[in-house]
Amino acid sequence: MIQNAIVPVAGLGTRLLPATKSQPKEMLPVARKPIVQYVAEELVNNGLKQILFVTGRGKSSIENHFDHDPELSRILQQTNKQELLDALDFSELKANYFYTRQPFQKGLGDAILCGESFAGQGPFVVALGDSIIGLHGQAKLISQMVDLFETNHASAVVAVEEVPREEVKNYGIVEPASIDGDVIRVANLIEKPDVDAAPSNFAIAARYVFSPLIFDLIKQVKPDKRGEIQLTNAIQTMCEEGRRVLAVKLPENQRRYDIGNFPSYFESFVEFALADPDYGAEFRETLKRLLAQ
Ligand code: UTP
Repeated sequence: MIQNAIVPVAGLGTRLLPATKSQPKEMLPVARKPIVQYVAEELVNNGLKQILFVTGRGKSSIENHFDHDPELSRILQQTNKQELLDALDFSELKANYFYTRQPFQKGLGDAILCGESFAGQGPFVVALGDSIIGLHGQAKLISQMVDLFETNHASAVVAVEEVPREEVKNYGIVEPASIDGDVIRVANLIEKPDVDAAPSNFAIAARYVFSPLIFDLIKQVKPDKRGEIQLTNAIQTMCEEGRRVLAVKLPENQRRYDIGNFPSYFESFVEFALADPDYGAEFRETLKRLLAQ
């Protein structure tokens, strides 16, 4: 059973400036919780026990968020704020957290490489720290991906989401060799293709399982025009070498909530707020009123 997960959270988040000038985008709230808390909860719900956050300058609030705050707990206890104490329960999640820094923001591939010694010789999960899978991060997708990885002796399993055809140019797109229900055998990946050139509308969706072989392949990737080491290039090499690379479709009722750009962040916040058990109904009425104006 795979126990290790790497969560890259070192990116600059320039598309969300000025919100991300002095706070990590992964700490922006979606309704009640910061994004990265949903990600950690999803990993723990899927049986991951060791979580490495690849952080960078200005990201120390992530470490603080997952740390105990004895002073705050004491005050809440003294004032009988049990509900608020419960809301802090996540810092008791049954996982060990580790932190390392990516010294230069040289792309996702480079961020994952920072986890090489943490992963050691075993396979591991990667979950992007700026994306939530499923409403409130309750998805079991990672368990399904891990099962598939193990039973098929795969080199990589990636999550994919069907996106509208005109949006393929924003994503890494899978070229399927064959499709069997939810599972796709991947022939190749195309990064941000033109609509006409896209081999499918299956977009890579922020969750991966890798054999440690990926590290050697990342080391061979040449930086792109922006100086970034693209993870997609390393997975492409896996495909070219004829290794088993599989993709799993997100279940119909689950979406990837990408917080990396404002339209998608706004949409995610509203959808999560509408589903809030205490305030959702009231918020729905407020929205109706605002929309009617
Ligand atoms: P993005 O591709 O959205 O890049 O990262 P970014 O740099 O954070 O954002 P923009 O493009 O400047 O707006 C996807 C995930 O990979 C991490 C990010 O923190 C995010 O969780 N990442 C990205 C790193 O850890 N290091 C990097 O060098 C780049």
